[in-house]
Amino acid sequence: MVALAETEASSLRIQQVSKSFPAPEDPLTRRPALSNISFSVAAGELVSLIGPSGCGKSTLLRLLAGLDFADAGELLIGSEPISDPSAERGLVFQDPNLFPWLTVRRNIQAGLVARGVLREKREEVNEFMRLVGLGSFANAYPHHLSGGMAQRVALARALINHPKVLLLDEPLGALDAFTRMRMQDEVLRLWQARRTTMLLVTHDIDEAIYMSDHIMIMTPRPGRIDRTISVALDRPRQRSSPDFLRLRGDILEFIHFAGNASTENKS
Ligand SMILES: Nc1ncnc2c1ncn2[C@@H]1O[C@H](COP(=O)(O)OP(=O)(O)OP(=O)(O)O)[C@@H](O)[C@H]1O
Ligand SMILES: [Mg+2]
Repeated sequence: MVALAETEASSLRIQQVSKSFPAPEDPLTRRPALSNISFSVAAGELVSLIGPSGCGKSTLLRLLAGLDFADAGELLIGSEPISDPSAERGLVFQDPNLFPWLTVRRNIQAGLVARGVLREKREEVNEFMRLVGLGSFANAYPHHLSGGMAQRVALARALINHPKVLLLDEPLGALDAFTRMRMQDEVLRLWQARRTTMLLVTHDIDEAIYMSDHIMIMTPRPGRIDRTISVALDRPRQRSSPDFLRLRGDILEFIHFAGNASTENKS
């Protein structure tokens, strides 16, 4: 278990990052998606990103994953500039994207096989399957799994690479409300076991409050960080405690205000 308890996290720093895309109506002009974004996430923190659809949350995660390039600004993991994809930055999407023809075990170890390190990591695959509660499903195929189980495979598949940062793009968005709450506890448990830095995109304000150290609220497109709220509640958090509900009310009010101000900007 030593390997699982290691602290492997890195900080993230985003400095004055902008990104635009060709406008769909006129590909010769560019339309800004992110405008001069700056923020940082300390090593081992869990930070949520919330904001209206189209404000650039996935774009930002793709830049951090190294899948796309910024027009301007700097993205750093620790003190290293991010220039290309790397196993040190894991990415989990709403859709678990499992290989349907591979068993749970083979899905989880696919990255290790690709990197040619399976032989020395085989025992770790077993540990990760236990960590996400799928030890007895090693030989099951994705179509045998519930949505929550499939998403746990996706999390294990990302974590097995020992990422220094885990980028989560609405990873629980497709789950029903009860499974989602259970999975929030699962992700928190993994985070507490590994202390991986996590950046979580979510549309669910309760999820953001329940899980995060800080919540960053983005403006409508072109996205900027409008406000960062620190969640100073002890864990495990009580979803119906007065402090939780007060924070929820504050955020809802803030977003409502941001929403009203944004109607003319909507695409
Ligand atoms: N590859 C692309 N080509 C052109 N435009 C793009 C591309 N990717 C994103 N965009 C545009 O950039 C803006 C931000 O998109 P993005 O997917 O980052 O939003 P989002 O905040 O993740 O939204 P949602 O909450 O709906 O997932 C949108 O206006 C989108 O149309
Ligand atoms: Mg998105």
